[in-house]
Amino acid sequence: MKQALDDCTFVIFGVTGNLARSKLLPALYHLYVENLLPEGVRILGLGRRIADKKAWIVELEADLNDRVRGGLDNEAFKRFSNRLAYFHGGLKNHENYQKLAEYLQNKDFPRNIAFYFSLPPNLYGAVASHLGKVGLLKEEQGWRRVVVEKPFGSNLESARDLQHHFDKYLNEFQIFRIDHYLGKETVQNVQVFRFANLLLEPLWNRNYIDHVQITHSETIGIGSRGMYYDEAGALRDMIQSHLLQLLSLVAMEPPVSMKAEDLRDEKVKLLRSITPIPKKSLSSYAFRSQYANGTVKGNKVNSYIEEEGIPNDSVSETYAAVKFHIDNWRWRDVPFYLRTGKRMKEKRSMVAICFRQPPKQFFRTSQLERFQPNWLLIGIQPDETLRMELTVKKPGLNMKTKTISLDACFSDDVGKDAYEGLLLDVMEGDHTLFLRSDEVDESWKIVDPILRYWDTQTDYISTYPAGSWGPDESLRLFEKEGQSWRCSLEPEGNK
Ligand code: BG6
Repeated sequence: MKQALDDCTFVIFGVTGNLARSKLLPALYHLYVENLLPEGVRILGLGRRIADKKAWIVELEADLNDRVRGGLDNEAFKRFSNRLAYFHGGLKNHENYQKLAEYLQNKDFPRNIAFYFSLPPNLYGAVASHLGKVGLLKEEQGWRRVVVEKPFGSNLESARDLQHHFDKYLNEFQIFRIDHYLGKETVQNVQVFRFANLLLEPLWNRNYIDHVQITHSETIGIGSRGMYYDEAGALRDMIQSHLLQLLSLVAMEPPVSMKAEDLRDEKVKLLRSITPIPKKSLSSYAFRSQYANGTVKGNKVNSYIEEEGIPNDSVSETYAAVKFHIDNWRWRDVPFYLRTGKRMKEKRSMVAICFRQPPKQFFRTSQLERFQPNWLLIGIQPDETLRMELTVKKPGLNMKTKTISLDACFSDDVGKDAYEGLLLDVMEGDHTLFLRSDEVDESWKIVDPILRYWDTQTDYISTYPAGSWGPDESLRLFEKEGQSWRCSLEPEGNK
């Protein structure tokens, strides 16, 4: 149960943009309807595309109509819109920040203020400096917090530069670096699952685990985000942030407590233990590819380079697969395989843990037959589930085996979005599910060598047909013959 929250003003920069429309405002509306926002909350949207509050509310109502659970409640929306205000203006002009500071002096706005940068990442530094210069980040009359989306920088150097900008006006405790994966129910369940069930702990190490796979696949392409995506690519967009976070939660040591700093200390320690990928072996550790045209869920779709805003010689990756080793007591020699892709066959996020084979294979009928190893599958989306696969005897006179799965399904489909909890955490000042600056730094250190290597390969990228599971060439990352990507939550190999 959350403690009672201080009244606050929630300022959204880029309120007419995609993220605010599709995630932030629906989340705030749901929180409002469920009476979870502070009573005196005010939400101030800043935008340039729309001229005034009236026009914004019209667009917002239509957006929410399409997006909120159970349909929009008109009465509730009316009350919600009374909590909203709109400030029209661009972000480059310093005068606008002076005007904003004056506007926020109005006694209708609570003195505690959260600034949400729902903006292109290259503007974060400048916007923070403008806010700092007009005194809006000083905590003289109430708390001041800044929320930033990923990516925080585009490599180690630029992330440090950005941090430097922030350091001039902000303390670390004022900064909330969002990774929406940490707000997902099942991702949080990884910790409960690991640390509230003692029976797993003895198995959770190199003695019993052969390897770990973390998959994030999507059927969507890049939509209208071409400008951002072509600069970013899949490694920055998903692996440096969300998937490395997942990896940390799966592999870290038990923290001293579940308090923010203790948890973040353990994640940083884990990230620091990841072995730097040796330069000469980069191609056997990292693989990239780009979608060609193909068919997704029965519909023909364009290739990446035919998407809006993508140059036809682009070699940006829409699929990335990377192998990591963690050089610590628990995980030495256990490969962790991470992959992500757009326009893949299915939408799925899951952690698949493959256990070792038993020392002797008793129940097999030929020399060639091998057991399916035990797998533990943590489905994050669309199925929020936990499955343990075991080998059992097939009923009948022969000693034949098959794989069954013990299933714990978490979700009763309440459909809460990760942003709902995260926005409340910002208002509460709880950093547990947000990244600390050293975490971001370590994550960039891990992927930087791959980015630099791919930057040298400007004239070729392999492709995979849209609607497939990605290129087979990525199998070269696996260390053992016969191993491959786990794509499904259903038991494999029950022939
Ligand atoms: C975002 C990426 O952070 O996460 C997107 O920028 C990606 O490219 C999205 O589609 C995936 O999030 P989810 O919650 O749909 O898995």
